[in-house]
Parts: sequence; C-alpha cells; structure tokens
Amino acid sequence: MVNLGFSIGDLRFRNPVLTASGTFGYGSEFDDFMDVSRLGGIVVKGTTLEPREGNPYPRMAETPSGMLNSVGLQNKGIDYFGKYIYPRISEYDTNVIVNVNGSYVDDYVALAERLNSFDRIPAIELNISCPNVKMGGMAFGTNLGSAREVTRAVRAVYMKKLIVKLSPNVTNIVDFALAVEEEGADAVSLINTLLGMVVDVKRMKPALSTITGGLSGPAVRPVALRMVWQVARAVKIPVIGMGGIMNTDDALQFILAGASAIQVGTASFIDPLASVKILEGIEKYLTDKGISDISDIKGYINR
Ligand code: FUM
Repeated sequence: MVNLGFSIGDLRFRNPVLTASGTFGYGSEFDDFMDVSRLGGIVVKGTTLEPREGNPYPRMAETPSGMLNSVGLQNKGIDYFGKYIYPRISEYDTNVIVNVNGSYVDDYVALAERLNSFDRIPAIELNISCPNVKMGGMAFGTNLGSAREVTRAVRAVYMKKLIVKLSPNVTNIVDFALAVEEEGADAVSLINTLLGMVVDVKRMKPALSTITGGLSGPAVRPVALRMVWQVARAVKIPVIGMGGIMNTDDALQFILAGASAIQVGTASFIDPLASVKILEGIEKYLTDKGISDISDIKGYINR
C-alpha cells in the first residue's frame, strides 16, 4: 500500500489529485464517467455572491497546445449554490472546495462568511487571479497591497482552510505567495491562467469578445512548473500546483518540484477521466519504484 495522502493543517486529503475550478463543473457532471469520491478533492466552479451571466460569446479559442477562455465567472450565485448544488455535492466522500470570487474585498468577505456554515465544505480557494473580469479577480492578485488586504480580510472571518489561488501575471510570484502566507493563508494554489489573446484573421477581429483571455493547457506547463518550484522553495505552507497537467508524468514533475498536490484542469475537457488516470498513474509510479509514501518524492529535485 502506498500512502498518497497530504494535509493542509489538520485537513487530510486522501491523495494529491484535485480538479481545477471551472473545468470540472460541480463534480456531478462527471458522475457518469467516474467515482468523483476517489479524488483527493474537487474545486468547484468559481462562485460569487450574486448570479453572473459571464462574458459575451465567443469566449473560448484554441491555441497551439492550449486554449484561451474568457468565461467571466458565469455562475448562479451563492443562494442557488446553497439550495440546489450543495445538497448534491455534500454526498461526495472527498474534500469539496469552493472557489470564491468578488469585485470588492467586502464581496469576498461576505461570501467566505456565508461558506463557514456549509459543514461539508472544509476549505475555500480564494480566487484573486481570474483574468477575465473588469473588477476584482486578477486586479487583487497582481497588486501586493490588494492581495494582502483581501487575504487578511477573509482570514479574519473564515474559520476553515484558506487556499489562495495566485496569478502568474506578475513579475515575481514568490512575493505574492509570501505575502498571502504572512496574512494567514493555509496553502497556495498556482498558477491561474496566463493573460493572452488570439486574432481571427478571417474576420479581422479578436477571437474573444473580451479581446484578451486566460491561456491554459500544455503550452503554459513549463512556466507553471517554474513558478511552483520557486514558490515551494520559499513558503512553509503547502503548494498546490497546476497548469497544463495532462498526464501522470506532468503531475509528477510538479510534485518532484515541491508541490504537495496538483489540480487537473484543461485535461478534463479532453478526457473526463484524466484526473483518475493521473491518480492511478502516480500510485503505479511509486509502487514500481518501491516508494511507500508520496512525501518521499515531494521536492526531490531540490535534494
Ligand atoms: O473567466 C473565468 O471564469 C475564469 C476564471 C479564472 O480563471 O479564475
């Protein structure tokens, strides 16, 4: 038996494979394909206090080895979530994490406060890195003072585990990781998407209605890996790595570079079973190498 588990403080995850927000719906969309409870956790769709329509179409474009999205945090808001989605996802025997968004600090605070009372949600992922909204999102995650302010304010009201999702669209992501750690984050997750754009030459127009969008997929992986490696060496809290993880080898790169866990994102659009295949692959890799605990390979490249 291989121990794949990891912890954020006293919150235990049975394995290091989570799904990334916005790429796995609320989990139930995948029930026909897999047993969602096998995963270490799922991070559900970005949630806001009020319903959001999202950005106008088109809001997706293909790129070489990746995709560009500008969904704009479309969701039905926390009331709908609590009434219709939460009862369903409470059934999962895994850690269900809500990705929390807002336009103002007060929005984040109010939403985090509400989520305290959801017994089956043991953690939130504070999204200060969405590149597709006019207010909030990346504006918080690309300014050190704002990143500190929103983390501090949410920490003051949120009683459970606080994961802060960082933006790669900064000069030095380590500064942001250290700042949110100092303000009380229990873990960091990175990277959110890289700001990019595509022009449709036939139409002579930007491919996305918002002109720019967030780039994800294998194209961003080397950048994500470099950032995870840098952050994991700098902070004491667990690092959850993501960015173009398509298969077991990709996931292992992040763990060997220092991540405690990983999130599978874009890969789930191509293969809904990507996350469980990666989980099985990690277990096989460790078994084949005769390693009984995944913590033995975490950050191994730095030894
Ligand atoms: O546009 C979106 O909903 C993306 C969100 C994110 O990248 O955090």
